[in-house]
Amino acid sequence: MKILVIHGPNLDLLGTREPEVYGKTTLAEIDKSIQDLAKKKGVGVRIIQSNHEGKIVEEISNSKEDALVINPAAYTHTSVAIRDAIVARKIPTVEVHLSNIYAREEFRHKSLIAPVAVGQISGFGMDSYLLGLKAAISCLKKK
Ligand code: DQA
Repeated sequence: MKILVIHGPNLDLLGTREPEVYGKTTLAEIDKSIQDLAKKKGVGVRIIQSNHEGKIVEEISNSKEDALVINPAAYTHTSVAIRDAIVARKIPTVEVHLSNIYAREEFRHKSLIAPVAVGQISGFGMDSYLLGLKAAISCLKKK
């Protein structure tokens, strides 16, 4: 069982980026927790971060993994291309967000990704990724 984890734009800045919204945890710390949980659960993970929509589309299209956990970041609200790549790839996808996007500005309330994901986890900081990984594993086990 292999899972691809994708971090979208500006998530490389975690730790210093709006800590009042996203906390002080760095992306490297999040990735370490994801790797630790994956190891504990006996699944393989590959983690990437990109600020580029086309790169994210290509990573999804060319992926060999069985499931996807994605924080599309700002592309959540704009990217038909990432949504279409998820539909085309046909693997269970869990959308995650550090912040509760529904408690923020109105433009963040709309996700183009949520309707094509199995589900969405939003608002639990770093734990959103860990819950997302658990949800993806549980989807694969039911398959
Ligand atoms: C985010 C929420 C998005 O609205 C925002 O553009 C991000 C991060 C989150 O994890 O809370 O970059 O996806």
